[in-house]
Amino acid sequence: MELSKDHKEATMNIPTLQQAHTLLQEAELLNPGPWVQHSIFTAKAAEAIAIHFPGLDGQTAYILGLLHDIGRRAGITDMRHVLDGYTFLMKLGFSDAARICLTHSFVLQDAQAVAGIWDCSAEELQTVDELLQSIHYTTYDRLIQLCDCLAVSTGFCLMEVRFIDVAFRHGIDNSYKERWQAYYSIKNDFEDALKISIYQLLPGVVENTFGFNINRQ
Ligand SMILES: [Fe+2]
Repeated sequence: MELSKDHKEATMNIPTLQQAHTLLQEAELLNPGPWVQHSIFTAKAAEAIAIHFPGLDGQTAYILGLLHDIGRRAGITDMRHVLDGYTFLMKLGFSDAARICLTHSFVLQDAQAVAGIWDCSAEELQTVDELLQSIHYTTYDRLIQLCDCLAVSTGFCLMEVRFIDVAFRHGIDNSYKERWQAYYSIKNDFEDALKISIYQLLPGVVENTFGFNINRQ
């Protein structure tokens, strides 16, 4: 899996940093939970990696990470949070942040290859599928997919800890080997480009990984 070369493209359609924080705060009031801190650490991981990656912007990466799970503002849902987030941010006019809400869960770009249950209508699932097929993944899409796997609610973690964390909460489907392999591939692509382990960019990752209790999440 090769990172795209189009991450140097011009301005992206995303909220300001202040707007993004406000959106997350409003969402937390609607549906408080560990997902909020997970979003903040995803944002911090994305920024920490992006500032070392030529052509990526740290603040843009932070904003996209902060809002990737904003669909959880709609309540406690499973996979429909990706569609809720996409719809919510599209209505606000933030099309690039909306796209990340959708793509962050689909490392394989296949609506059926997910760690979760599709709690939406057949028509909505069809919409997700068509949207996914129409999207050309950028380096930002790959960055947030990666960082979603490097953040739990207490901080940064080894990717494998997040795999197990998600598996405990959502179960495992037939695509898990291919999905996990895809995450390793994205991680390797970023590390090849950065010439450094991504974990060296994540403060506290060792302490949090070995101190994190999955059953308490
Ligand atoms: Fe997430």
